[in-house]
Amino acid sequence: MKLVFASNNKNKLQEIRHQLPESIELLSLEDIGCFEDIPETADTIEGNAILKADYVTKRFGYDCFADDTGLEVDALNGAPGVYSARYAGEEKSAEANMEKLLTELDGNPNRNANFKTVIALNLKGGQHLFTGIVNGTITSEKAGTAGFGYDPVFKPEGLDLTFAQLSLDEKAQLSHRGRAVKQLIDFLKI
Ligand code: IMP
Repeated sequence: MKLVFASNNKNKLQEIRHQLPESIELLSLEDIGCFEDIPETADTIEGNAILKADYVTKRFGYDCFADDTGLEVDALNGAPGVYSARYAGEEKSAEANMEKLLTELDGNPNRNANFKTVIALNLKGGQHLFTGIVNGTITSEKAGTAGFGYDPVFKPEGLDLTFAQLSLDEKAQLSHRGRAVKQLIDFLKI
């Protein structure tokens, strides 16, 4: 079975390919000839996942799924949330985003945060949403080199390691995206 994932993010593709059974061939936007920057203009994580999935289905005619993720920090009233990618500016730099976050939380004892991923699946004319959440804390300095985005500053609940210190398998077991993808796989019964 072929399934289009509405993303060109190599890290996300790698994580999801790793988790899906071999019977599923995952196609990226590049693979289907979509080189456009899909607008992410909704003001919720769900809304952006739906925008991306609908863009591909309407313009390219494929059944597909898209994900959108946000980091919600309690002491920042849920920010950066839906704005996580551009938290420190339009260049969407992971390094700058982490620096800004660590500066904002400097000296703040409340480090609680969560990652939330919503997957929107367009399949045979219907739309289905899957949500994965992981609670954790923001560290006071970066640790680890694996993963991407905010991984070096996020420790999932129950572990004294950041996401950037975990293998792909370990991250998939615990992570927001891993949990949402697991629901997608269960739904597809594959
Ligand atoms: P989006 O889902 O690509 O819009 O991601 C929004 C922001 O969250 C980007 O800055 C990503 O780098 C970051 N992000 C998404 N997923 C993860 C993750 O699994 N770990 C750390 N950061 C992530």
